[in-house]
Amino acid sequence: MKILGLALLLTIALSQSRLSVDVYTESLCPDCMEFLLNSLTEAVDTPDIDQMVNIRVIPYGNVKRVFNKTTGKWQFTCQHGSVECYGNYVQLCGQSLLASKYPTDNEILQVQWAICIDRRIFKPYTNTRFDEAANLCAADFGISGSAVKECANGDQGYKLHLAAAEETDALSPAHQYVPWITTNKKHSVTDENLILEDLVQWACDNYKGQKIDACSTRSE
Ligand SMILES: *[C@@H]1O[C@H](CO)[C@@H](O)[C@H](O)[C@H]1NC(C)=O
Repeated sequence: MKILGLALLLTIALSQSRLSVDVYTESLCPDCMEFLLNSLTEAVDTPDIDQMVNIRVIPYGNVKRVFNKTTGKWQFTCQHGSVECYGNYVQLCGQSLLASKYPTDNEILQVQWAICIDRRIFKPYTNTRFDEAANLCAADFGISGSAVKECANGDQGYKLHLAAAEETDALSPAHQYVPWITTNKKHSVTDENLILEDLVQWACDNYKGQKIDACSTRSE
């Protein structure tokens, strides 16, 4: 009981001091890809980065949605066309499957999944290309590519996209562009620009607790 209480206190202390970075993206926005493939990749490749910062990627961004009374469902219009919506589903579905397969320590994996898809998709962008990317990434991450596709083409993908929509639309202030980055649930253009440039450095500069080794290697 005593140990449990202590563990709980420690967990609370740790989670309270940990930074959070939420990245609102779209699967085909060029500036999102640029960020995912550079600053964000370096961050998730940095050992123990999740001790300082909780990073999330939420693919939805500038999507418009209207409620269709006939179907009882939302219809999404993505900025870069319907293939972008499909790409969002693939990213969200993979994230969800990873969270189920690895119930703990899946934060970084979920980010790496979104990055993996961006890295594997190439022009001209099509749903088939996203399926191929999903298959290759699924093999890397030990999940089923067909499960990703089934989710992306079905109700589960729709529900995940709607959840991303609700989270994005609830942002205050509302997002004005993508990628839109909030730090500890607040938007700051200064922090956003620093993170776009170098997320690891931003985390090292802002984390108040015990810094990870990468921070000292960098400042030397
Ligand atoms: C609503 O969905 C139905 C059935 O798919 C479709 O025929 C109709 O065009 C949709 N309405 C709008 C406003 O898009």
